[in-house]
Amino acid sequence: QKDGYRFFMEKEIYEQSRVMSETMMGRVLDEAIAFDELDENFFEGISSIKICACGTSYHSALASAYLFERIAKVRCDVEIASEFRYKEPLLTKDTLFITISQSGETADTLEALKMAKRAGLKSLSICNVDNSSIVRESDTAILTRAGIEKGVASTKAFATQTMVLWMLALYAGQEKSTISKETLKNEITAMLQTPKALIVTDTLHTKLNRLSKRYLHGHGFFFIGRDIFYPLALEGALKLKEISYRHAEGYPAGEMKHGPIALADSELFTIALMPKTMHYDKIKSNVEELSARDATICAISPIPFDLADDFIQTTYDAHPMLEFFEMMVVTQLLALEISVRLGNDVDMPRNLAKSVTVE
Ligand code: F6R
Repeated sequence: QKDGYRFFMEKEIYEQSRVMSETMMGRVLDEAIAFDELDENFFEGISSIKICACGTSYHSALASAYLFERIAKVRCDVEIASEFRYKEPLLTKDTLFITISQSGETADTLEALKMAKRAGLKSLSICNVDNSSIVRESDTAILTRAGIEKGVASTKAFATQTMVLWMLALYAGQEKSTISKETLKNEITAMLQTPKALIVTDTLHTKLNRLSKRYLHGHGFFFIGRDIFYPLALEGALKLKEISYRHAEGYPAGEMKHGPIALADSELFTIALMPKTMHYDKIKSNVEELSARDATICAISPIPFDLADDFIQTTYDAHPMLEFFEMMVVTQLLALEISVRLGNDVDMPRNLAKSVTVE
């Protein structure tokens, strides 16, 4: 069943390219995004979006908030479902309530959805499991089509959730006429290249395998990024901590100087996401500050970076989402290889269950 891969997680990382094509099938057309699941004028009367989710699904939501605001010009807030439930949130009926869940059974996310429904909000879920509780409870559901995900550490579900959300932001932009035809066309062109950006090459995997042996000790990892690469940093750190049991944090790069930089020394491993298309100079100067404090830097970027102790050169440099997906694969494989070297059972990490159906 593992088809020659050591772990389901590894198999699922390799599957991402293929499942992404499935996610787009019939939805990404030549000059438009289409969702059979959505009624005509789905966004009519909607003036803001609230998204609730947990864990990895929460990270895809965070990334999408940048896209909804930038592309569709609609305000988007994201909340951790377990926090949302007890904060006595103020909800208004012009808010679209989106839940994101791989399993469709996460107790906190399901309860958040029920609360939103009681408040009369229109609900949409983005799920990987058809007929799951969250799908059944939502007014409308969009399936991510990632296929069964067995690895406890979510990979292909995250990739496909993020893709659906990107498509949905474009769909909203198209409906609300906040993007030009030309921009939409360019976005679609980039979107169609995603499966290619997710292909794992032997060269990359071998490189990460070799590099991983230098990252087994030390007192922790910081994954840093800006904009959509900040949620990706959070996700990279979550993946690493789940399966390696090493301390890892994701941080917005610009925040390091507001406290965390105090931790910097050669035993602090910084995984820097340095895309060319998104605030490159800003993140570069954040990484330079860390390097000046002797932090060990592993830079992931299409642009060679002299100060890096380790450098992983990515190939896409023309669209942020393609950079996002390519860097996502790098962080997933890095977590995998570090964890395998540490002798951990990557598919059954200690203390974790695939689906969290209790509060
Ligand atoms: C991390 C992971 C968890 C889940 C979270 C939500 O790799 O898998 O953080 O993302 O428990 O689960 P779903 O998406 O099923 O609601």
